[in-house]
Amino acid sequence: MMAAKLSFGEAILLASAASAQLYPDQSPLNHTCALQEPLLSCPPQDPSLVDSCCVETFGGLLLTTQFWDTYTGRESEGQLLPADTWTLHGLWPDFCNGSYTQYCDLTRQYDPIPSPNTTNAKPNGTFVPPYTGPKIGTFLEPFGKFDLLEYMNTYWIAQNQDNAGFWGHEFSKHATCFSTFNTPCYGPEYKQHEDVVDFFETTIKYYKRVPTFTWLEKADITPSNSTTYSYADFRDTLSAEFGAIPFIGCSGPRYNTTEAGKNGTDSGFTVLNEVWYYEHAYGRPQEGNTIAVNATSTYQTNCAKAEGAIHYYARTNGSEKAPTVPY
Ligand SMILES: *[C@@H]1O[C@H](CO)[C@@H](O)[C@H](O)[C@H]1NC(C)=O
Ligand SMILES: *[C@@H]1O[C@H](CO)[C@@H](O)[C@H](O)[C@H]1NC(C)=O
Ligand SMILES: *[C@@H]1O[C@H](CO)[C@@H](O)[C@H](O)[C@H]1NC(C)=O
Ligand SMILES: *[C@@H]1O[C@H](CO)[C@@H](O)[C@H](O)[C@H]1NC(C)=O
Ligand SMILES: *[C@@H]1O[C@H](CO)[C@@H](O)[C@H](O)[C@H]1NC(C)=O
Ligand SMILES: *[C@@H]1O[C@H](CO)[C@@H](O)[C@H](O)[C@H]1NC(C)=O
Ligand SMILES: *[C@@H]1O[C@H](CO)[C@@H](O)[C@H](O)[C@H]1NC(C)=O
Ligand SMILES: *[C@@H]1O[C@H](CO)[C@@H](O)[C@H](O)[C@H]1NC(C)=O
Ligand SMILES: *[C@@H]1O[C@H](CO)[C@@H](O)[C@H](O)[C@H]1NC(C)=O
Repeated sequence: MMAAKLSFGEAILLASAASAQLYPDQSPLNHTCALQEPLLSCPPQDPSLVDSCCVETFGGLLLTTQFWDTYTGRESEGQLLPADTWTLHGLWPDFCNGSYTQYCDLTRQYDPIPSPNTTNAKPNGTFVPPYTGPKIGTFLEPFGKFDLLEYMNTYWIAQNQDNAGFWGHEFSKHATCFSTFNTPCYGPEYKQHEDVVDFFETTIKYYKRVPTFTWLEKADITPSNSTTYSYADFRDTLSAEFGAIPFIGCSGPRYNTTEAGKNGTDSGFTVLNEVWYYEHAYGRPQEGNTIAVNATSTYQTNCAKAEGAIHYYARTNGSEKAPTVPY
């Protein structure tokens, strides 16, 4: 569920990847964000001219990402999908040009299964050591964030992995690459893992604003193992609701290998399973003051575009349950 789906754009090796500071010359200010004009994150601001804890100066193109999985692979352990709801994947900081980097601070490496296993996805990148400590969910306990934990265990669901392992992956691979979730941003009173709590809360703030299932349902697009849909149905419905064109991702067989698409030129995939919503943020992403932007025109989908080519499958019987906490 991780590596293949996340490969997009170009990973960039940073000489400073293992240091806690994304910028050696980060602002000497004490990160009182009320004093910093909340500038827009893209095109990128110069980190030597603004407080990079108060304006996202590293990964200014935010992606709110969700999955539509039909099973978890861990049903027997009670890991189930929330009925009638797309699940949370993450909140990613791409560069304004659409490329991205990952595992930017190895002092905050909480991913038990790093994927890829080097910082630049190449054999010559810095090795990302698998994490073996207490699960990241336990970091929330000293903060008394049991409600947050319950929400995450309801909506932030992994496939073929325990939920907390997946949350650790999302944090260490992606959150460490934001300038605004960097530990110095929390000032001299920083409490260990405060950045983790802040990132999880912020990710949920973004997730709640894009109720994909409900948006599709309003347009009579609901999961089905007998009906198929067209890519344009998803694109037009979600774009109208969100205000910009998201990336829509598919897996499964390529259309040209199916009976209907055989010998054709449409080789897109046919099973809907992801959506990525793109935004730029004013000031700290934590505040949620954003503008929706289109996914890059060269990569808006990998799904087949032929009429009726897309399956939006119903979940496997026994793989979902009614959520006990509200979306
Ligand atoms: C930031 O705080 C430190 C004390 O923690 C202080 O010495 C320093 O002068 C402050 N910097 C600014 C720009 O106010
Ligand atoms: C995209 O932006 C990043 C950050 O500014 C830069 O390092 C990278 O070289 C750029 N990539 C391309 C393909 O322009
Ligand atoms: C991690 O990297 C090593 C060395 O490049 C490679 O041999 C190994 O197969 C990789 N492991 C995974 C799980 O990708
Ligand atoms: C790392 O390997 C890639 C090819 O996999 C190469 O393009 C790049 O120049 C190498 N970087 C360094 C620093 O050796
Ligand atoms: C696909 O090509 C094969 C061999 O060229 C042909 O027998 C078959 O009828 C074609 N199928 C369709 C749907 O066009
Ligand atoms: C389907 O399209 C892909 C990508 O263009 C191609 O590699 C593959 O050979 C095609 N398969 C068939 C059965 O036509
Ligand atoms: C997004 O794409 C749509 C359709 O191509 C276009 O009408 C709209 O102006 C674009 N929005 C932005 C902000 O570029
Ligand atoms: C619908 O089809 C998918 C894909 O084959 C399957 O995983 C799922 O179990 C099916 N759902 C139901 C309710 O039969
Ligand atoms: C799933 O359950 C529905 C009724 O809830 C039933 O109609 C269907 O046959 C079941 N599918 C499978 C694959 O067991």
